Amino acid sequence: MKLAIHHFESVVSTNDLCKHYISEGAGEGAVILADMQTAGKGRHGRVWASPVGNLYTSILLTPSVHDNPPPVKAYAQLAFMTGLAVLKGLELLGVTGVQLKWPNDGLINGQKLFGILVECVDDAVIVGIGINVNHAPEGVGQETTSLAALLGKEFDVADVFHAVLKSFWQFYRQWIAEGFNTIRTECLPYTRGLNSEMTLGDKTGIFTGISDDGALLLTTSDDVVHAIVTV
Ligand code: BTN
Repeated sequence: MKLAIHHFESVVSTNDLCKHYISEGAGEGAVILADMQTAGKGRHGRVWASPVGNLYTSILLTPSVHDNPPPVKAYAQLAFMTGLAVLKGLELLGVTGVQLKWPNDGLINGQKLFGILVECVDDAVIVGIGINVNHAPEGVGQETTSLAALLGKEFDVADVFHAVLKSFWQFYRQWIAEGFNTIRTECLPYTRGLNSEMTLGDKTGIFTGISDDGALLLTTSDDVVHAIVTV
């Protein structure tokens, strides 16, 4: 797989630019990297603070072009896979102790280090990754941290980008070739809140696992297992 990396000083949102690339005919392996975003997007229409010094990238995937493609409903697996891939890429840079908070957060000591925004356009998937490299934005509704704060030194964003992208492609190829099972097994020890009580939307129960489709399994007190795809 050949990657086509497009690097910009400033964009509105790398995910939105990636959508534009799809409309222009771009295929799997297009990667947008930006030094800053003027309107970076989080989940649920939230703003993703995007100053220079942190990492903003979006990766275009078309799982359906592969042999035995995973069904579209399995694309929820990609958020977990991406979280694990980012975590493993960061480990190579000396960052340990990251926890994955379903479905898309990377936390250290409960503070947000990275976020993932997966969007689908027909059967193409855009995986947007934002990592707090040198800044931990404040006033974003939750506690944040950065690689620089954690390790006490400035990071070159390019080093983080290459480590994360390499890890991402390794996991993506594994997902395409082998499916979700081994990735899920690898994710579980890093998953925050497993076997604990949690409330998602209007349901409170025990987080008992991750389904074959990548949904969070919430077992409520009536012993019903709810597969929750996104909240
Ligand atoms: C979240 O935690 O709510 C998801 C945050 C995702 C942010 C990244 S930064 C790169 C890509 N472009 C965007 O506009 N958003 C994602």
